[in-house]
Amino acid sequence: MAAPAPRTDTAPALERDDLNPNVLRAQYAVRGPLVDRAQALEAQGRKIVYCNIGNPQALGQKPITFLRQLLALLEHPALLDEPDAARRFPADVLARARDVLRRHPPGTGAYSQSAGLAFVREAVAKFVERRDGIPADPRRVILTDGASRGIQMVLLALLRSSATGYLCPVPQYPLYSATIALIGGRRVDYALDERRGWQLTEPELERAVAAARREGTEPAAIVVINPGNPTGAVLSPETIAMVVRFAARHRLAILADEVYQENVYAPGKRFVSFARTLHDLSEERVPLFSFHSVSKGYLGECGHRGGYLEHRNVPDDVAQELVKLQSISLCSGLPGQLAVHAMVAPPKPGDESHATWAAEREAILGALREKAEILGRAMRGIPGLHCDTPEGAMYAFVRIELPDTPGVADAERDTAYCLALLEETGVCVVPGSGFGQEPGTLHFRTTFLPPKEQIEDFARRLGEFHRRYVAALGRAGA
Ligand SMILES: Cc1ncc(COP(=O)(O)O)c(C=O)c1O
Repeated sequence: MAAPAPRTDTAPALERDDLNPNVLRAQYAVRGPLVDRAQALEAQGRKIVYCNIGNPQALGQKPITFLRQLLALLEHPALLDEPDAARRFPADVLARARDVLRRHPPGTGAYSQSAGLAFVREAVAKFVERRDGIPADPRRVILTDGASRGIQMVLLALLRSSATGYLCPVPQYPLYSATIALIGGRRVDYALDERRGWQLTEPELERAVAAARREGTEPAAIVVINPGNPTGAVLSPETIAMVVRFAARHRLAILADEVYQENVYAPGKRFVSFARTLHDLSEERVPLFSFHSVSKGYLGECGHRGGYLEHRNVPDDVAQELVKLQSISLCSGLPGQLAVHAMVAPPKPGDESHATWAAEREAILGALREKAEILGRAMRGIPGLHCDTPEGAMYAFVRIELPDTPGVADAERDTAYCLALLEETGVCVVPGSGFGQEPGTLHFRTTFLPPKEQIEDFARRLGEFHRRYVAALGRAGA
């Protein structure tokens, strides 16, 4: 290999090639070149509909009043002493804010313990107990800046060497591929079965783990996203139990990404947690890390960066190392921690704010259910596009049929399609190659977060666009 050219005195002291090669390798598709182009078009005055990212409030979803009133009081406690406080805020919100400030007198401007405020971790444990009907231990909860930071922390903690492998679904949410690249681990892909509603199958998991071991990879963990991003699929209880048994057989930890647990729409489907399944199977060997977030569900509070991880079957000295990792960044953001508190301990029936909270929650989840159906129906009506109605989450992963263009890579083909779609319709979606897809297939991921009328309009324009695009490719190939 040729030696790098010597630096001249005028060259910048830091060039791209000086960076950590893992940083250069990491890719994050949902904010990639398509979004750059969308922003450039927007700067020229084009109206862009951002369907590339699950960011509900950026697409018009209103915050839940209870959460924002509570945070307003906690950020500015002087409001509590204003003469008209009782008129401006519901009694339960005022009482909650006073209670929080009694438990953490310095308020949002002070660090908390590294693992997060003790009373919030207790509320998380009670939430898990209510949700699953199983015991939960607040000492096994860490509050994190969104689910992302918890996931990154666990992936990092499990990395024993550059041969450490993590089983990840294909398609997957790129936080996983990017973080594994950043920390210098290995991704071990297992394919979700598109023909069977993107379910996860045991033979495929066995194939993936055997292939990894053959090439010297040492699998440490399996990542499962349920409900799925980008697939929108909801896993059956049997599949979850199968994954737990598989993990036990191969001595793997489970990272259960359950940030979309409130987002289940398909009739007859329900969210079943890995924690509950572990409990039902009396499984005490498999380490489980479950993640949840205020960013999704009905809150959509992505900007507040609140989340938590709950672990089970993890020895105390390992748990302490996780807290140490968290302590290196001191603690997660306090407004995010308090948003988690509002998520896991919402108003109770009888509280003054309960009716509004319940109505807002139902309106948001009901609208998402309706929009999932509208999108699924519309996609099925477009010849050359394939997609079932999403069962959950906030996305559809749509398969695109295009005429063959020999010699052109899949990633180039789906990116070209999405760019052309953006230029023609102003809708920004993400190419399937950013999530991984079966070779020879092409997809894009879209959210169904925009208002209903925009989704209907998008589907109509997408149909026309697809016909024109296919015809143009046909002419080019003729
Ligand atoms: C599957 C999945 N996991 C984790 C996250 C990260 O969420 P947070 O905002 O809590 O970091 C997302 C965000 O879109 C996601 O889709």
